[in-house]
Amino acid sequence: MYQNIFDTHAHYDDEKFDEDRAEVLSFVKSNGVNRIIDCGCDLKSSLSAVKLSEKYDFIYAAVGVHAHEAEEATEADFSEIRKLYTLEKVVAVGEIGLDYHYDFSPRDRQIEVFERQLLLANEWNLPVIIHDREAHEDTLRLLKKYRPKGVVHCFSGSVESAKEVLALDMYIGLGGAVTFKNARKPVEVAKYVPDDRLLLETDCPYMAPVPFRGKRCDSSMIAASAEFIAGVRQVDTQTLINQCHDNARLLFGI
Ligand code: NI
Repeated sequence: MYQNIFDTHAHYDDEKFDEDRAEVLSFVKSNGVNRIIDCGCDLKSSLSAVKLSEKYDFIYAAVGVHAHEAEEATEADFSEIRKLYTLEKVVAVGEIGLDYHYDFSPRDRQIEVFERQLLLANEWNLPVIIHDREAHEDTLRLLKKYRPKGVVHCFSGSVESAKEVLALDMYIGLGGAVTFKNARKPVEVAKYVPDDRLLLETDCPYMAPVPFRGKRCDSSMIAASAEFIAGVRQVDTQTLINQCHDNARLLFGI
């Protein structure tokens, strides 16, 4: 069993954990996971992430409005969200970004909400956790404009776009998607990213890695992604886990 696993992207506030959240969290803790960042997607889930961070010493919170929820977010939501950045265990602005795959919110609204939160991140000197699905061009343009510190999570671009992200001193987050059968680009990226810029993540309850694909994901499954990535990079898995843990602590200041 591996130790020292830092899951930099989880959604334990998700209703898929409502039945057995406490059991799952104690299971992952006894399976080598010693730090988790729970990411909010709107005011409600951000508040849940904060609650989890208050209840569990090994959980930290990211607070923000996801691209999917951009249209629904109100001024009142943003003024509540803003207050949460004063809390010690709120370590990032996230999950924020653009999603042109689903387009659940109109693109101009997604961009407006994203820019607003990039400004917030800089104002509070917090790293961002970026969601970019089929929106690489606009995402990069805005990251170049605001230059936040942070991570592009579940990185799905090419090595070329990884280079652009790395040139902004940002990190690349990789998880279950790397292990999927059709994952040519993420595997190339997993090979390419320098040791000190890689973060491990799940996006649980989604994106369970092979051999758990399709099941409800939890942070303990990072072991499968880490073994796969370590294989691609030809390094020892525990060494990779330790390196990614250190990277995450440096980025999130914990
Ligand atoms: Ni997520």
